Amino acid sequence: MENKESIKKIYIDKIKKIIRHNELYYSKDKPLITDQEYDNLKKSILDLEKKYKYLSHKNSPSKNIGFKPSKNFKKQKHKVPMLSLSNIFNKEDLENFEKKIKNYLDFNQIQKFEYSVEPKIDGISASLTYVNGNLELGVSRGDGYEGELITENLKTINDIPKKINLKGFPKNIEIRGEVYINKSDFENLKEKFANPRNAASGSLRQKESIETKKIPLKFIAYTFGLFEDNYFNKQSEFLNSLEKWGFKISKYNKVISNIDELIKNHEAFEKKRYELEYDVDGLVYKLNNLKLQSRLGFVGNAPRWAAAHKFSAASSFSKILNIEIQVGRTGALTPVAKVKPVNIGGVLVSNATLHNEDEIKKKDIRIGDIVKIERAGDVIPHVVSVDFNKRSSNSKKYKFPNKCPSCGSYVEKEFNKYTKKYDVVKRCSSEGYTCEKIAIEKIKHFVSKDALNIDGLGKKVVEKFWEKKLIRFPQDIFKLDYNKIENLEGWGSQSTSNLNYSINKSKDISLNKFIYSLGIRHIGQENAKLIAKHLQTKENFFKIDKKYDFQKFINIDGIGEIQISSLRNFFLLKENIKVVRELSNYLNIENETVNNSGKLKNFSFLITGKLENMSRAEVKAIIEKNAGKILSSVNKKLDYLIVGEKPTTKKVNQAKELGIKIINNSELIKLLN
Ligand code: IVH
Repeated sequence: MENKESIKKIYIDKIKKIIRHNELYYSKDKPLITDQEYDNLKKSILDLEKKYKYLSHKNSPSKNIGFKPSKNFKKQKHKVPMLSLSNIFNKEDLENFEKKIKNYLDFNQIQKFEYSVEPKIDGISASLTYVNGNLELGVSRGDGYEGELITENLKTINDIPKKINLKGFPKNIEIRGEVYINKSDFENLKEKFANPRNAASGSLRQKESIETKKIPLKFIAYTFGLFEDNYFNKQSEFLNSLEKWGFKISKYNKVISNIDELIKNHEAFEKKRYELEYDVDGLVYKLNNLKLQSRLGFVGNAPRWAAAHKFSAASSFSKILNIEIQVGRTGALTPVAKVKPVNIGGVLVSNATLHNEDEIKKKDIRIGDIVKIERAGDVIPHVVSVDFNKRSSNSKKYKFPNKCPSCGSYVEKEFNKYTKKYDVVKRCSSEGYTCEKIAIEKIKHFVSKDALNIDGLGKKVVEKFWEKKLIRFPQDIFKLDYNKIENLEGWGSQSTSNLNYSINKSKDISLNKFIYSLGIRHIGQENAKLIAKHLQTKENFFKIDKKYDFQKFINIDGIGEIQISSLRNFFLLKENIKVVRELSNYLNIENETVNNSGKLKNFSFLITGKLENMSRAEVKAIIEKNAGKILSSVNKKLDYLIVGEKPTTKKVNQAKELGIKIINNSELIKLLN
């Protein structure tokens, strides 16, 4: 029956649906439907409005420009990775940051450094490749190693020069910076996006560049990627040239050379952060000397020579409605306060972590309390303190559970042999995949961005598939029943075939990502890389079982007893071995490509004593960069012993006995030239 009310209801349901999918896409970046399904939904709303003139809603797609970005951009590898920055929060962190740099460079601690100080604009970074002055490629950051090719969209931004006809402009250079939106321009887009950053990211990824053009995006340049024949000595000089070449740079950039001045500047800047024209979440400090930057290089995903000094967190008060216990991938029980939703610095917060049992005890946090909640950057909001004046008289102390809320196993605190202390974290004592929550978290980890990186298989989808009994172990991902999936609510033929495609694509994986994907405790990305580099082939990895001589790993620089005992525990469990074996049938694991084209190939080194003008870490990095190997003891396999001041006599004597060449670090540098 076609009456006004029922049509209105159908219409409003569709509007609600589109609001939900907009939210999933823009704020959560977890779309549940395909672009096509979204377009169909949008069209059905527009059709209804056309037919029944009385239908109208402020969130109707007819009222806003097509905001659905496309996810179908071509992928593009970055020639130089786009890495992240490590964070510092206070003076102590800053002092440590500088100390580490000085140690690495073997500089005197009183030596002064100059820093380029730049605001950390909260936007989306992009990399622009100019060849002979022409903007040839524009790429989003992506995972840092591979981004999306969004040249046309970037070209719509006025601040980005398309052609640079200037003498002295480098012939081949990648210029990098931040795409962002001014706070005042965001006012008009408030209805559709949670914050300016989401607005920038959403509009940058429009399928049609004409849609991007409608949004007043801006660009500030701050660094380079690939830069052939880089002739600059200082970051600040490079920034000034950027401006001469026609780029916008931040007017707040500065050069500062001591820690007290940096702190003063940070305090002053933090006070005026809300008056700035764009969102800034901290200051970036970069060692100004580019030669020193390149000596320092990178550790993990971040440069040693730069850091982000974050502003203190935004905070607000809310009521704790409940305390829930989450069980993590490694069995850790984390208490989470479910709070009455509250807006903190532009983000709606309804969960805040309470860290662990001790923290709840120490702060005497209870259900029903009014608490102060803080949120900084991308980290999970946390409860800072309780407002005891507002506590009700009948509130009760919170009792932390003694059993795993997921599987009922008893929980335990581990004793750390090395620190001789009990861990603060309580863990579920069941192992492997018997505890439901642990199993789900392991699968989420397995498919996550840094592991198998399966698009369309986000956390919510893993939970849904688990609930529908489609998966119990990581390998089940490769045996999915796609007919069943297609008929699930929110799924269709397009989204199912997209999922199938990304799962197949994920089967080609490097050995280090595979090791990381298993979610072995204490084996994060860096350690997985070290182990993979050591083992080199998947065959070597598949040899590992409970009888394996794990102690061999102690030779790997960076792997210690904690990691070794964790690996041993992992392989003691039959179930884990079964998972590894089964996965090997589905995956094409690529052997680790070791750097074997350097001048030090086939040579091994050991360092003893204090070296001149260089830290041990830097010498090691140089050796590895040139394909040499570092050993951890003197033995027949050793080719060179590098000695500095006050070497270990035993090592020198052993080397002499075995006829091993003994050199100092300048002789090492000679080997390289
Ligand atoms: S330099 C390896 N400079 O911060 C050097 N980054 O956490 C990293 N960012 O993805 C980039 N302002 O989006 C640099 N002046 C600035 C920056 C800046 C904001 C962002 C950028 C990057 C993230 C790193």
